[in-house]
Amino acid sequence: MKLTTTDLTPRIGTEIRADREALLKGTHAAAIRDLLERRGVVIFPEVRFNDEEQLAFSKTLGEVIPQGEKGIFKVTLDRNENKMAEYLKGGFFWHIDGSTDDVPTRASLLSARHLSQTGGQTEFANTYAPYEDLPESEKKALEKLRVIHTIESIQRKIYPDPTPQQVEGWHAYKPKSHPLVWTHLSGRKSLVLGSTASHIEGMDLEAGRALLARLEEWSTQPRFVYQHKWKLGDLLIWDNTGAMHRVLPYAADSGRMMHRTTLVGEEELV
Ligand code: OGA
Ligand code: MN
Repeated sequence: MKLTTTDLTPRIGTEIRADREALLKGTHAAAIRDLLERRGVVIFPEVRFNDEEQLAFSKTLGEVIPQGEKGIFKVTLDRNENKMAEYLKGGFFWHIDGSTDDVPTRASLLSARHLSQTGGQTEFANTYAPYEDLPESEKKALEKLRVIHTIESIQRKIYPDPTPQQVEGWHAYKPKSHPLVWTHLSGRKSLVLGSTASHIEGMDLEAGRALLARLEEWSTQPRFVYQHKWKLGDLLIWDNTGAMHRVLPYAADSGRMMHRTTLVGEEELV
């Protein structure tokens, strides 16, 4: 049974078409994992998996994190559907999921169950490619740096005037120090950026922030980015170790509903 692939941009994003049953049986699991590593994001247009199928398919690719209801986490800004809705607004800014954890998640599978009339496209930026395109001298300099990641850093972008309770909630997550350049087990290197990046260790605060901002701008140039315009029933997987993502703004009352399954991290960020 065949797997048909179409690259959507030169540096990131590949569409996959395959027989549904073959996907659910894991026939193509190794090929999909390989594509994910090389292409950052893979898309299964209008595959229309239900929750059970999404979970079964996810399990063919790795170990699923027990989150949400039976492994399905609802990504929505509707508080009645998800108590984390307030935090999920952080997703409007570039980020890597679990960037304050020791081992960030391997990948997430997101399926579109209800779309917003406007906005809500999801963007992905490859984090290997912008590193590869830097001059050698800059690569060497960046490899020496470490970055402190905090939940507060990303949440402050949405809530610039937080209540003491909000700040207390943010501080429940411990700050995490990560290298700016991730050397993967494969030997490939990627940049670890995103809005949880608060500052650079041992560097003047403002100078560090300016460098982080410049690197984010560099890394999210159109040539490193794929923007997904959702259709109902699309399923997309992103490599959370080799790409960062953000969702373009949409209204909290738009009804937008995505169902997410997430694969356990397999590699420490070093
Ligand atoms: C996420 C996320 C983006 C989206 O689930 O981690 O950032 O498009 N989602 O909803
Ligand atoms: Mn996310």
